[in-house]
Amino acid sequence: MAKMGKGTNRGKVKGIAGANSRANSGLKTRVKTAKKRKLSSTLWLQRQLNDPYVARARSEGYRSRAAFKILELHEKYKLFKPGMKVVDLGCAPGGWLQVAAKEVQSSHKTPSIVGIDYLEMGAIPGTIILQKDFNDEDAPEKLIEALGGHKADLVLSDMAAPTTGHRPTDHIRIIALVELAADFAINVLAPGGTFVAKVFQGGTEHQLLNELKKNFTKTFHAKPPASRQDSAETYLIATGFKG
Ligand SMILES: C[S@@+](CC[C@H](N)C(=O)[O-])C[C@H]1O[C@@H](n2cnc3c(N)ncnc32)[C@H](O)[C@@H]1O
Repeated sequence: MAKMGKGTNRGKVKGIAGANSRANSGLKTRVKTAKKRKLSSTLWLQRQLNDPYVARARSEGYRSRAAFKILELHEKYKLFKPGMKVVDLGCAPGGWLQVAAKEVQSSHKTPSIVGIDYLEMGAIPGTIILQKDFNDEDAPEKLIEALGGHKADLVLSDMAAPTTGHRPTDHIRIIALVELAADFAINVLAPGGTFVAKVFQGGTEHQLLNELKKNFTKTFHAKPPASRQDSAETYLIATGFKG
């Protein structure tokens, strides 16, 4: 897997409201376990409050800290170019769409970026958003329609199936979603196109990798610094679609 260097200093911040100004204060916020709050929720909240990427997302106007993952991947692998047509699978709340719209200079009048998510989200200039489950049979057709019938240059997927807690079931659902995204990419990409998908370490089936290797000139994994080190998530990148 490609190593992308260490993350920025993890400044510890004290509380969401003061996150931006205190991001590098060296203070760590501890969250008291409220009576009705589960321990897992307390730990999640504590991590959010102390995460410098959360503070940066707020100060730079990104809807999610995930924006930095695609920005870091772009800095290293030059994923976007002005004028590109992009599809973003699992796009809510919209951090990746914001980055993509800026980098490809998508216009408000003729957007060249289409996103899909089953969650409701606010509009983002330069993008078309479909509120829909990507598993729906007509999802590929609706996405292509929104692209004006054009082929895509870049297909991104940050989708993750909700976990059930039953590991074998979760594994199968994760794999199924990535396979669906890869299948879509192979059908919709223009020659030379790129596919980027979130996968989980130990979860990328050989069959999927072999399929991608047949269709793309290069495939590799990369974990951007913004992806938490304790998370099994990594990104699969396939470049040079053979068409
Ligand atoms: C990690 S979030 C994406 C964050 C996004 N890249 C950003 O920058 O804001 C994953 C998203 O995938 C969506 N998702 C998961 N399965 C999906 C499906 N079958 N169809 C559509 N969206 C899906 C979830 O609703 C969630 O919003």
